[in-house]
Amino acid sequence: MTLSPDCWHAVALASDIGAKPLRILFSGQPVVLFRSGRQIAALQDRCPHRLVELSTGKVVGGEIECPYHGWRFNAAGACTAIPGLTGEVPNYRVPRLKTFEKDGVMFLAKGEPEGEPYLHCAEGRKIILKLVRSSTQSTLVDTAENILDATHTHFTHKGLLRGLGGQRQLVRVDITGGPGWVEACYTGEERQQGLVSRLLEGERVKTVGRFRYPGIAELEYWGAKGLVLATTFHLRQAADNQVDGIGCLIGPRNGLIDHLKSYAFRPMFRIALEQDRRVLTSASRNATFWPNATPLVGPLDFLRRSIEAILAGTLPPAAEKPETAYIEL
Ligand code: FES
Ligand SMILES: [Fe+2]
Repeated sequence: MTLSPDCWHAVALASDIGAKPLRILFSGQPVVLFRSGRQIAALQDRCPHRLVELSTGKVVGGEIECPYHGWRFNAAGACTAIPGLTGEVPNYRVPRLKTFEKDGVMFLAKGEPEGEPYLHCAEGRKIILKLVRSSTQSTLVDTAENILDATHTHFTHKGLLRGLGGQRQLVRVDITGGPGWVEACYTGEERQQGLVSRLLEGERVKTVGRFRYPGIAELEYWGAKGLVLATTFHLRQAADNQVDGIGCLIGPRNGLIDHLKSYAFRPMFRIALEQDRRVLTSASRNATFWPNATPLVGPLDFLRRSIEAILAGTLPPAAEKPETAYIEL
């Protein structure tokens, strides 16, 4: 579960961090986020004195105050006050992490990543952006694959993302990849029959599902006039059996209708997320009974091996051997 230090990881929504501190799990360890002036600070969530969770304390003047003896720590992690002490405060420190806020999403890094974090696949375009948070009992590879897997939608999301009638059509899939990414491009699919497509989409020209290192799963729905709908999900293995996600839901911003439609994004996605959570949790529960069971990679699981390779830091098979397949979708 070690995270690469040179990467930004989306960990929270800035709106979740108010007057109270927020505790999150980052690479299996608790981190406390709190507001300090205009920035958001991230410290290891452990007071160095008696190891109490700093996140159970409060924020005073932009510093976090431990609830046990009131020691205070600033955004850099330096101890600034030991109540009752008459002399100078010793040079005590709590490890801190680098933070970056982008369009309402908080990113953390263990090391010193270069440049700004990547937020979503429609950066720089005229879009409406809605954010969601999720937490699932699962593994990163299972969760990422689930988001990008087209074949489960007929069953897990019947009615929502697919029609009730179970109609299928022959679709072409082109699978390509490179260092740190893999994508599947679906063409030949007409409009889908599910509720989401009926409400939000027009005619569909192509669908792209993409995975990017270190844990980004994104879907793009393209119509004749351009991008109609997209989601970029930032996933990370927060703890052994817990995947936390920050999702960007993206729609075009061309007028009033787009704004009205955008109100449907979050409620519909929450339903889809809940449906996915059910199957992922079910698989995860079984994994505790059969810890050594390896899941089958079926003939339609186009991305699984590439996602596994990317997470292992190797070149995905799709980069060495691009593939074209046909599928009844
Ligand atoms: S445990 Fe935090 S101040 Fe003592
Ligand atoms: Fe799903």
